[in-house]
Amino acid sequence: MSIDSSRRSGSTRQQDFAAVLERIAADVRPLAGQGRVADYIPRLAQVPADRFGMAVATLDGDLFRIGDADEAFSIQSISKVFTLTMALEALGGDLWQRVGREPSGSAFNSLVQLERERGIPRNPLINGGAHVVADVVLSHYPDARGRLLAFVRERADNPGIDMDPEVARSERETGYRNAALANFIRSFGNLHNPVDAVLDFYFHQCALHMSCTDLARSFLYLANSGLCQRSGETVIDAERAKRINALMLTCGTYDAAGEFAFRVGLPAKSGVGGGIVAVVPGVLALAVWSPGLDEKGNSLAGAAALDRFTTLTGLSIF
Ligand code: DON
Repeated sequence: MSIDSSRRSGSTRQQDFAAVLERIAADVRPLAGQGRVADYIPRLAQVPADRFGMAVATLDGDLFRIGDADEAFSIQSISKVFTLTMALEALGGDLWQRVGREPSGSAFNSLVQLERERGIPRNPLINGGAHVVADVVLSHYPDARGRLLAFVRERADNPGIDMDPEVARSERETGYRNAALANFIRSFGNLHNPVDAVLDFYFHQCALHMSCTDLARSFLYLANSGLCQRSGETVIDAERAKRINALMLTCGTYDAAGEFAFRVGLPAKSGVGGGIVAVVPGVLALAVWSPGLDEKGNSLAGAAALDRFTTLTGLSIF
């Protein structure tokens, strides 16, 4: 395997991604099953912890997969990147009057900063920020849920993608934190739709069911300056794609974002379903899934796999 000779070039053409994925799977498989499956959403606690899958989709049109890469899982917070894309299209730069763009340094569902900062969530990738983004999407698109579904199906080139109503219901039944956050934000006037409508949309976006293959393909527009790699159509303009990638780097893994940049060195977004998607600008997107989470809510084996990927291939932004 020619991994070591090509690792500093950063070129996809010289990379043997199939061999890289095999080596990563062998290295991190002992970690799959470690950590804790998210059990605060009861439906997620039923997912077997020992799953591991990974997919790499390149802008050249190649796809590499290993393990459970085609098994669909609950993407949870990864959906915040899709809704942020839609909200930026809807509001443009005015979005930043309603949500910040600094790392929170706190847990994704923390309430503490919101009071001091008068209902303006620190960034769009923590839960409160995602509620504001969901509110913008609801205000702008009459069939917001349908529009989101159409968006991800198109991006992933998979018309079979859907939301799992059982996951959405399970989260709604236990979503006390999200309800607290959304009510609090609404009290500052930073939600315009009824709290129930915002939460309903938010729980459904989190319940999107996608595989690593779907996710890797669906993030390619962020590796391609906002263009769809298949059609050349503009999904989002290049400047916004750049900003979304920056937000993923600084806020996409919450209070572990610094550690994640240190270990992996790529814009990335995690979800408590155990998925993590990362982007190598100009080159590829990749996704990994393993449900066991570390204490910050990021996939334990998934983070290790991404660390191995950028180390073996030299494909990080640093
Ligand atoms: O709102 C929640 O708590 C979940 N639906 C999503 C949280 C999440 O995925 C955080 N990611 N690491």
